[in-house]
Amino acid sequence: MRTLSFFVLVTAAPLTLAQEPFNALARRHQPVPAGHVVGKDNGAGSGLHNAGEDCGICHTPGGKAGHLAFTMGGTVYADRMGRVPLEGAEIVLQDVAGNTISMTSNKVGNFWTSAPLAANGLAVASHGGTTHELFGFDGGVLVPADAADSRTWQYKAWLRHGDEVRHMVTIAPVGGSTGTTPRMSCNMHHSPLGGSGALWVGRQPVAPVASGVSFKKHVQPLFVSRCAPCHIPGTRMTRLVTLSDVADGGATTFDYSAAHDFTSYDGSSMVVVTDGGTTTRTKRGVRAAADPAAPAQSRALLKTLKQPAGTVVHAGGAFWTSSDDDYRLILKWIEEGALDN
Ligand code: HEC
Ligand code: HEC
Repeated sequence: MRTLSFFVLVTAAPLTLAQEPFNALARRHQPVPAGHVVGKDNGAGSGLHNAGEDCGICHTPGGKAGHLAFTMGGTVYADRMGRVPLEGAEIVLQDVAGNTISMTSNKVGNFWTSAPLAANGLAVASHGGTTHELFGFDGGVLVPADAADSRTWQYKAWLRHGDEVRHMVTIAPVGGSTGTTPRMSCNMHHSPLGGSGALWVGRQPVAPVASGVSFKKHVQPLFVSRCAPCHIPGTRMTRLVTLSDVADGGATTFDYSAAHDFTSYDGSSMVVVTDGGTTTRTKRGVRAAADPAAPAQSRALLKTLKQPAGTVVHAGGAFWTSSDDDYRLILKWIEEGALDN
């Protein structure tokens, strides 16, 4: 037995990222792809109109601008509310075949491309999680879905500006939820006031506070703006989308929140409607991720600190260094007892 396990140890090749399944759970800490030319897939034209709108309504086959169909497009903002467009942000996609696509936002924040995205012919769910069976069986033989159907195009995305990086948590297919209206735009889900928030990469830090940090006045707004749309009450789930995920019994369903609601001090408990009826989702609040006995070791801070390039410890990305005002404000609040003040 001992000899056998030794044998296995020396011959097993280390698992590389490329071998990891292309799903939300396996890729949740994948660093933003590097080594490509930034903006190499920018679409032609000036594209200054309809910022923040769903480009895919028109720029889709058969749409008003169907002769100029995009595979992906959208608008980037500096802030989550979508008030300040951000020029020069990079939108990086990696598709299921491992191809990297890079776009940069223009002066109104718009980006778009017609570069092809690879298909997963066994995709079974739309971007929003509604399950379809795109593929079929012919005489018992599995026939993958048409690779031209945008509901099979699967990708992970990152948003980068300077040293700010936002990770998309899902591995989504592109297309809309109905076969006849394939929409291909990030703004469909990530509109400024939509549930998934604007496509944003960062916001101005809060003003430094000398002492007497207040949870309600200083800390809570920071967490609400930075940690939504993931650590929120209720439910925000993404379903995995391949046939094998379904065969797994859906065990890999991925909750964005890790059972934390950072919009409140104590957390929340909410009854939500699920496939199987209703269920109660209980989540822990900011206090549970703060440790006044060892403030700098608080999980809310450790998880969100910027890491060396290529290292990702948090699917939600990194937000600050230990010298940033936002970090120092949270640290001070924890040092002062992490009070509900
Ligand atoms: C309501 C429909 C509609 C929406 C929404 C829309 N477009 Fe367009 N777009 C058009 C039409 C129509 C044209 C003109 C086609 C032509 O002139 O032949 C066009 C042309 C373009 C062009 C080529 C002309 C130019 O400006 O250089 C680009 C690029 C473009 N759109 C980008 C975008 C982006 C990016 C979005 C989303 C943020 C978007 N569009 C949203 C309808 C739309
Ligand atoms: C884009 C979504 C997203 C955003 C935004 C986000 N997170 Fe997360 N966070 C996740 C996901 C997904 C996990 C679970 C996977 C992991 O641990 O990386 C997680 C896990 C965590 C955990 C670990 C919870 C545990 O079980 O111990 C902490 C702490 C945390 N996040 C803090 C934060 C804080 C603080 C913010 C805002 C400043 C934030 N996150 C913003 C997605 C996000």
